[in-house]
Amino acid sequence: MKTEFHRITRLPSYVFAEVNKLKAEYRDQGHDIIDFGMGNPDINTESFIVDKLIETVKKPKTHRYSVSRGIKGLRKAQADYYGRRFSVKLDPEKEIIATLGSKEGLANLAMAITDPGDVILVPNPSYPIHPYGFIIAGGSLRHVPTLSNGQFDEDEYFKTLTRSLKHISPKPVAIVISFPSNPTTKTCTLKFYEELVKVAKQNEVWILSDLAYAEIYFGDNPPPSILQVPGAKSVAVEFTSMSKTFSMPGWRMGFAVGNEILIAALEKIKSYLDYGAFTPIQVAAASALSSNPSTIEKVRGIYKKRRDTLVDSMSKAGWKIPSPEATMFAWAPIPEKFKSLGSLQFSKLLLKEADISVAPGIGFGEYGENFVRIGLVENEHRIRQAARNVKSVFTAADRILSEYSSGEIDH
Ligand SMILES: Cc1ncc(COP(=O)(O)O)c(C=O)c1O
Repeated sequence: MKTEFHRITRLPSYVFAEVNKLKAEYRDQGHDIIDFGMGNPDINTESFIVDKLIETVKKPKTHRYSVSRGIKGLRKAQADYYGRRFSVKLDPEKEIIATLGSKEGLANLAMAITDPGDVILVPNPSYPIHPYGFIIAGGSLRHVPTLSNGQFDEDEYFKTLTRSLKHISPKPVAIVISFPSNPTTKTCTLKFYEELVKVAKQNEVWILSDLAYAEIYFGDNPPPSILQVPGAKSVAVEFTSMSKTFSMPGWRMGFAVGNEILIAALEKIKSYLDYGAFTPIQVAAASALSSNPSTIEKVRGIYKKRRDTLVDSMSKAGWKIPSPEATMFAWAPIPEKFKSLGSLQFSKLLLKEADISVAPGIGFGEYGENFVRIGLVENEHRIRQAARNVKSVFTAADRILSEYSSGEIDH
């Protein structure tokens, strides 16, 4: 009997699973783990959105199969959002599709457009579906680093990108980008998108932009959309997500918008795979998208306060973490004293010695080593508690490190 499956063997074992297993063990032993590990938004979905779902679910007609590409009212609400937020005009019939979360959209678009062996240019470090959506689809990857000395350097990025586009054979078919970035939290400028669209047009390559953190930003400049670049629709699609913007992660609702060829490809593949999200979810999502900006501002405000508390309290504990400009994460360099452990062992050490769970940077790709990702998914009180725990670990660093000098941090 066949027991080795090509697609499955191409997927590496999940680095995060190792930390999660350890986390579960410590919890079973009674430890109160402060969990910054997963990017699982913990803020309650606003009650008017929940009420809309309840109101709609009482209508038996909504219990039928829904529409795979999203009901008209939802696609129209997304078009209005893009008009208001980015001054980008979208045709809800041809340029918008609802997805079961942006992750599903990314994975199925990868499946729709990738021939076996097609080369895709993906950021590194990155959110895992960016590379692995294409690995599952049978593609090959070329990683483009998005960090140099802990920063995103647009010029460096273009140097590597244009070199890759010139020399790689077969010629890449798509470029994946995602700003604000999970995990690095870095943002990009509209000028970056202008240059990227130019390069994509010259090289006849698609751009898939993941804008999941469009609304989770803390500075004065909201993150731009690639579709703000005139003519971008001829080469680009963009993904957005209700999960972060409206704190609706479990509802599984996102969108792809932009190039109509790519939207049609995604629509076709999805029409074979799903019947769309449950209609009451779509109706509630449309009400969220059409709501007063205060809904989004509230979510943003909570993350901002947590960010400030984290950066401030960890700094006092001796851990200098750059203040993230956007996203619901901090991207923290491993403190010098612990650097030689690497991000996986350092994450295990924090679990064991400080009852804190973080995501090791190596789980996001080789260029993520030397960092850990801290999710802003615990309240301010618990963030301060975490900083106190970290301080105790740092104070006892020499003793702790000597205990581990022989190797693995496990039990
Ligand atoms: C960059 C990025 N894209 C997409 C997603 C997935 O979001 P969704 O819940 O819409 O599938 C995440 C979730 O963490 C993310 O960080």
